[in-house]
Amino acid sequence: MTDSPLLSVRHLSLTYRTSGRQVRAVDDITFDLPRGRCLGIAGESGSGKSSLCRAILALESGAQGEVLFDGADVLRMSRRALAAFRRRAQMVFQDPLGSLNPRLTAGAAIAEVLRVHRRAATRAEALDQAATWLETVGLDPTYLQRYPHEMSGGQRQRVNLARALCTGAEFLIADEPVSALDVSVQAQILNLLRRLQRERGITWILIGHDLAVMRHMADDLLVMQHGHCVEYGPAATLLTAPSAAYTRELLAAVPDVPRALAARV
Ligand SMILES: Nc1ncnc2c1ncn2[C@@H]1O[C@H](COP(=O)(O)OP(=O)(O)OP(=O)(O)O)[C@@H](O)[C@H]1O
Ligand SMILES: [Mg+2]
Repeated sequence: MTDSPLLSVRHLSLTYRTSGRQVRAVDDITFDLPRGRCLGIAGESGSGKSSLCRAILALESGAQGEVLFDGADVLRMSRRALAAFRRRAQMVFQDPLGSLNPRLTAGAAIAEVLRVHRRAATRAEALDQAATWLETVGLDPTYLQRYPHEMSGGQRQRVNLARALCTGAEFLIADEPVSALDVSVQAQILNLLRRLQRERGITWILIGHDLAVMRHMADDLLVMQHGHCVEYGPAATLLTAPSAAYTRELLAAVPDVPRALAARV
């Protein structure tokens, strides 16, 4: 463990080129993410949140700038180094059903990841570890035999989290992980994420629209608009006294921000 940030993003840009059209989805983004902390990324639909994360994970070619993960530039890694990075950095998506293979039980889905990343030598060992991972995300071992359609949205998202973390990942990007879930289940999953952050020292990025959620979850907040960063700083400060007009607009648009907070902006 060192004091240097786990992730340092420097002047990161990404332009999509499709059928003669260019979209600069990420435009000169710079931030630091210290170990064990949560960075929230907010912004309206199409502002470039998912694109920024895809660029950070080197899932898009043609990104420019630097993505320093533990000091090494992800954008300039050898294949071998990139494979090692992808074990340490994982992503969880909005749609917990779409992310799971309908033909695999939860046990098989987790075991598959463990085998691919060579964390279990045999199928039996993988299933054994899968049971422990299910327990870590709050599901009992009977879920080993459950298919995605036999689980609730929240339970499926727990399985997705187990799949992400069983690689030994220490860095997680959660792209709107609760927006497809019932409100009552959202808090459970967010609390689980917080517990994993605390107990396992997970460093993560949370993408979301709900600034009230950000206020509870994120240490720092980066607000995006048209690919740019319009505001970046400690979440508590930024949501109490936003300096950018755009952040104030976003805050005003969120219905469940406490009225006292909205009144101050
Ligand atoms: N593969 C792609 N090819 C071309 N343009 C793309 C591609 N993916 C995204 N875009 C464009 O890039 C911009 C940013 O999209 P992105 O998906 O990153 O936004 P977002 O902030 O994640 O939005 P949402 O909140 O709806 O998920 C948008 O203008 C989008 O149309
Ligand atoms: Mg998105």
